[in-house]
Amino acid sequence: MQNNLPIIALDFESAEAVTQFLNQFDEPLFVKVGMELFYQTGPSLITDIKKRGHSIFLDLKLHDIPNTVGKAMEGLSKLDVDLVNVHAAGGSEMMKRAVEGIRKYNSNIKIIAVTQLTSTTETMLRDEQNIQSTMDEAVLNYARLAQLSGLDGVVCSPLEANLVKQELGESFLKVTPGIRPENTSSDDQQRITTPEKASVLGATHIVVGRPITQSENPVTSYQKIKESWLKSHD
Ligand code: C5P
Repeated sequence: MQNNLPIIALDFESAEAVTQFLNQFDEPLFVKVGMELFYQTGPSLITDIKKRGHSIFLDLKLHDIPNTVGKAMEGLSKLDVDLVNVHAAGGSEMMKRAVEGIRKYNSNIKIIAVTQLTSTTETMLRDEQNIQSTMDEAVLNYARLAQLSGLDGVVCSPLEANLVKQELGESFLKVTPGIRPENTSSDDQQRITTPEKASVLGATHIVVGRPITQSENPVTSYQKIKESWLKSHD
């Protein structure tokens, strides 16, 4: 992954909406394509976005038996993406097979693991997953497993990035959603921080959606977030 630009979450319903959004920008971006969009548009959207010169985080969060995930990653390895992910809950063997699969046709693609979704609360952790530890410990446990399995980093909340940095090092990727500039709506995000704070806490990449995509002026909003992130990050 060549850059540490803020990653724009392209949470749109159609390829047309994506095109309309991207047409407003005349610089290379780093964008995130999630399940909603990919399941409707398929790989052709990836090709289109790449032709425009943008980097892509394909956020499909794979989680299945090791063989299935390995083979699925081989398929994704043929797409020209920069970053993909799996659920760490799938286990070390699944993660190792995912790494092998994604590197099959392109050794430059980075792969990270979702530790605990930010929608998961400590009560859910205890009562539904039957994990009797704190959220921090649960996240750190999966982050360690991801590193041991050869992954490049994790998706975590900015508030956990610091812990992960202390234990697993600066270069292990910490990709953090839940970012809101000062004085903007938190939407449905619970644990939010500003781009500057995320950087101080050790995030290597931030994912930002609605503060840019739903803004009246997406380009201006993006530039402001990019400036404050890069200023505090470099
Ligand atoms: O609009 P907003 O900035 O809240 O978008 C954040 C993006 O990051 C969304 O695409 C959301 O699905 C994703 N995400 C998240 N929390 C996670 C993992 C992914 O908000 N733990």
